[in-house]
Amino acid sequence: MSDITNPSPSMLLVGASRGIGLAMAAEFVDRGWSVIGTARGRRRTALHDLADTRPDRLAVECVDIAEAEQLRALRERLADRRFDVLFVNAGTVNPQPDRTMDQVGTDEFVRVMVTNALGPMRALEILGDLVAPDGLLGVMSSGQGSVSNNEQGGRELYRASKAALNMLMRCHAARHAGSARCLLLLAPGWIRTELGGPDAPSTVEQAIAPIVDRILEQRGRPGLHYVDRQGRTVAW
Ligand SMILES: NC(=O)c1ccc[n+]([C@@H]2O[C@H](COP(=O)([O-])OP(=O)(O)OC[C@H]3O[C@@H](n4cnc5c(N)ncnc54)[C@H](OP(=O)(O)O)[C@@H]3O)[C@@H](O)[C@H]2O)c1
Repeated sequence: MSDITNPSPSMLLVGASRGIGLAMAAEFVDRGWSVIGTARGRRRTALHDLADTRPDRLAVECVDIAEAEQLRALRERLADRRFDVLFVNAGTVNPQPDRTMDQVGTDEFVRVMVTNALGPMRALEILGDLVAPDGLLGVMSSGQGSVSNNEQGGRELYRASKAALNMLMRCHAARHAGSARCLLLLAPGWIRTELGGPDAPSTVEQAIAPIVDRILEQRGRPGLHYVDRQGRTVAW
């Protein structure tokens, strides 16, 4: 899957400044991959610190997935690169996640939907042709994006945004039926990050190896897959 000039497998990882994305960048580098990870804006992040320690394997790019023109500019900057994997990890939650729709402001609704559904799918559509024909296009979904498993409610806006992401990914898969690519929606499980909060049962350190295992395992499996970090299929 790699080309001759770049013998190690390569990944473009969008949203790698902290949390799960940062840990994914470190884990893929440790497993011999060349990674371009993205951060937002001009500020220095832990991803930059990590790249300083592994300049042979990790480079930092800049993109805000809410800004289509930034995604197009990134596509231009990377025009002569080819990746085995594009993975869009970036995501957000509203600060008061248990607000119901009468309590959520319109701006908040738009921000979460743009970050979790429109932004990732725009990134996938704009950057997708940088990926090998038999490569993997992945986005970070959530078990909370499952409509059929939602019997407890809660986190209504977040759930809706990940369900919208899942639906858009199914639309993409339908448009590309017969493609050799793997399309992956990954539900990483509840993890202690800024987004996951302090009550999550798993640390990033505990979760990261199975998350990366699942991405590697899904490579070369054409079609759409919605799986958790144990490799179980999640119901739509
Ligand atoms: N933690 C969990 O329990 C859990 C469970 C299920 C799914 N997930 C999903 O896993 C992914 C990572 O979550 P996390 O827990 O690691 O969250 P996190 O620690 O809050 O990190 C979020 C990441 O997304 C980036 N990001 C947010 N908005 C962005 C934008 N508009 N453009 C580019 N990057 C943006 C952030 O960059 P900045 O540093 O610039 O803000 C940061 O790198 C998310 O998609 C989340 O929904 C997490």
